[in-house]
Amino acid sequence: MKHITDFPTLPFGVLPTPLYKLENLSREFGKNIYIKRDDMIGVALGGNKVRKLEFLLADAKARGADVVLTAGGPQSNHAMLTAACAARVGMKSILVLKKRGEITSGNLILDNIFGAEVRLVDTDSYDVVYACMHRIMDELRRQGHVPYFIPVGGSVPLGSLGYVNCALEIAGQAEDLGIQFDAIVSATGSGGTYAGLTYGAKLFLPGTRSIGIGVCDDPFADIAYDLMQGAKELLESDVPVERSDIHIHYHIGPGYAIPSPEGCAAVRRLARSEGILADPVYTGKALAGFFQLLADGCFAEDEALLFVHTGGAGALFAVDMI
Ligand SMILES: Cc1ncc(COP(=O)(O)O)c(C=O)c1O
Repeated sequence: MKHITDFPTLPFGVLPTPLYKLENLSREFGKNIYIKRDDMIGVALGGNKVRKLEFLLADAKARGADVVLTAGGPQSNHAMLTAACAARVGMKSILVLKKRGEITSGNLILDNIFGAEVRLVDTDSYDVVYACMHRIMDELRRQGHVPYFIPVGGSVPLGSLGYVNCALEIAGQAEDLGIQFDAIVSATGSGGTYAGLTYGAKLFLPGTRSIGIGVCDDPFADIAYDLMQGAKELLESDVPVERSDIHIHYHIGPGYAIPSPEGCAAVRRLARSEGILADPVYTGKALAGFFQLLADGCFAEDEALLFVHTGGAGALFAVDMI
């Protein structure tokens, strides 16, 4: 088996990110709740995509790419962080985003600050967005550029290795704290973070179940299974991927990227009890799903539970929560 350090990476993140106990929430729920602060990863407003981009942009550089293209919704955290990381290594970024309304707020402002070229496409279909990206890449090649394509969310096996690495990091921090985590909980939007954490937990956190909270209605159990197989192959690992490792719940509310009352309440609860910002699209909904599992008695009294905070604060300034 290869070691995660055998893969070239670009050191974008300030690692390890903090991991500590949420004393007030733990008291309120009568549980041991910890947080992994990937929102404090040290690039832009932080977030999970930095770990994926450490692997993906290293691959882009190795292939001689000078332009990176990616896709997302208009408030995509992934696209914004791609722009930030690309800027750091002197690459141009082109973000092909689905157009919804005329919003120029939140992450769209940050995309501009990081120097990205933003192309808004008036469609709801990623097939249309990808076709547009391929046309742009053909044109770039004709001009002598070497483009690098990253699909929505950077959710390809190589990107998932960023979260296999995170699981390894968590294992080291848990050992330092003398804790064995019973469960780790994370938001799931395109599947790569969850897949990496879940396969990483299998490798480095035996006995820890990885729970994903889906924020849109994609079939994440299947998506995660395929991405985990891909990560396993890259690592040349003989540790099998098993469907029983995958635990997906959903908290979608009225729809993807539309705030839910429970998600907004969870954002406020984390802010008011711990002074930490979550967001209404991913981490607030993941917390709402996590709080529901707590309320449903899905965890034993003495279990140690870790919420992986995957960032997303940029959307707070674009989504109407009030
Ligand atoms: C803040 C935040 N959290 C979680 C996720 C979900 O990660 P993944 O797309 O790897 O499932 C995203 C994805 O865009 C995100 O922006």
